[in-house]
Amino acid sequence: MRDLEETRLQYDYIEKAKEYVKSESEKIGRPLTYCVHTFGCQMNARDSEKLVGVLEQVGYVEGKDEHADFVIYNTCTVRENANNKVYGRLGYLSNYKKQNPVMKIALCGCMMQENAVVEKIKKSYRCVDLIFGTHNIYKFAELLCRMFESNSMIIDIWKDTDKIVEELPIKRKFSFKSGVNIMFGCNNFCSYCIVPYVRGRERSREPQDIIREIESLVQDGVSEIMLLGQNVNSYGKNLEQPVTFAELLREVNRIEGLKRIRFMTSHPKDLSDDLIDAIRDCDKVCHHMHLPLQSGSSRLLKIMNRHYDKEHYLDLVDKLREKVPDIAITTDIIVGFPGETEEDFAETMDVVRKVRYDSAFTFIYSKRTGTPAAAMEDQIPQDVVKRRFDELLALVQSISNEKAMELEGKTLPVLIEEQNVQDASLVTGRLDNNSVVHLPGTSDMIGKIYNVKLKECKGFYYLGEIVNE
Ligand code: SAH
Ligand code: SF4
Ligand code: F3S
Repeated sequence: MRDLEETRLQYDYIEKAKEYVKSESEKIGRPLTYCVHTFGCQMNARDSEKLVGVLEQVGYVEGKDEHADFVIYNTCTVRENANNKVYGRLGYLSNYKKQNPVMKIALCGCMMQENAVVEKIKKSYRCVDLIFGTHNIYKFAELLCRMFESNSMIIDIWKDTDKIVEELPIKRKFSFKSGVNIMFGCNNFCSYCIVPYVRGRERSREPQDIIREIESLVQDGVSEIMLLGQNVNSYGKNLEQPVTFAELLREVNRIEGLKRIRFMTSHPKDLSDDLIDAIRDCDKVCHHMHLPLQSGSSRLLKIMNRHYDKEHYLDLVDKLREKVPDIAITTDIIVGFPGETEEDFAETMDVVRKVRYDSAFTFIYSKRTGTPAAAMEDQIPQDVVKRRFDELLALVQSISNEKAMELEGKTLPVLIEEQNVQDASLVTGRLDNNSVVHLPGTSDMIGKIYNVKLKECKGFYYLGEIVNE
């Protein structure tokens, strides 16, 4: 349920927080600075834009790094190493805090939805001032006020929520592109995955709210949007008036002034013919499909609770390529899931050879406490996993290089994203299929689309040149 009352309440807290920030900065004789560091996926990146929106509204200015007066880590817990990074950094943050008496530290995001994590922080990282979770991020202004009013660690974590609170301040990282949440949470409970436990149940936003948000983004100079959800293909099923993702795409495609539409992530079990037709028909929808495979073994896919098998997956790929011949297909693959045999792994390699992915993210299975897979016997020894991982990575990389070479010499539309960091005479943009292109240009080109000849393929990026027709 969308909650306007709550939105109004949070704007009151923003006014109150402004007073606190003003009086603190008067005390130290300069503006207070912030640093928001984001771990994890696009959802977290979008959430961080919401945090920054509030911070700037209440009077903080952007700091250069973690020496800022307020450091916030928006955390991820999808794999163990994401957690370890946070603990490592908290170690040196506590030293910075000793040198800066006004410094505050906040932790939020997926990792904070785990009890054991919060307990550990309470015990071993007393430098932290504020901890909140994924469900109450819209209360950030209110939590800020509480932080200023208290000297002890504030912890506010909710188990779940059915609320969707909209129209709070947001500050985009990029002027010309933006993520747009179309749904929150996940109901799929893949047996290895912690996301449904830390992001709660699936909730879709009303289509008219999504359209309104995109229209106002376009007014504000945005030319590319990415529709975000853990499984966009099941969008709208639980709305009072159900809408499909394909219908939503067609609606969004009608928005005038918008140039490119991307989306993430598609679950193979819910990828409909209707959606493939919509991708083919909608001129603004990029020809790129991120379709996580996880494993090529039908036996393992079943244990992973993915609800598709190898054959169904390969059929989907055929259908996609038949209807949208130039579509780029990318994926996620997990190596070393409990009980993975050499035969299972060979099936994964087989799918990779058959599909020929444009690119693939490969992950070593990470045991997440509380998920069914964590309790499974036959966890795979590290050396075996490492060998399989290296083998898979080598195959994935050699295929992506070959695929990338296929476009060399072609002229294709490129949306310019930024001035090149290393060489100011160049700008950097992306093809429809998400590949990176560097070309001579100036910053006024940012946000616009140009026809670019891909003169040279450098593996995972191209060097190009604008062609004038
Ligand atoms: N909702 C998306 C994925 C979100 S998590 C989907 O279903 O496609 C992003 C990726 O992290 C997943 O696709 C999976 O490949 C990987 N992942 C999730 N849990 C993992 C775990 N326990 N160990 C290793 N990789 C994992
Ligand atoms: Fe995790 Fe599966 Fe949900 Fe993706 S669909 S977030 S992998 S449970
Ligand atoms: Fe990580 Fe949470 Fe995204 S666990 S991958 S940041 S939804």
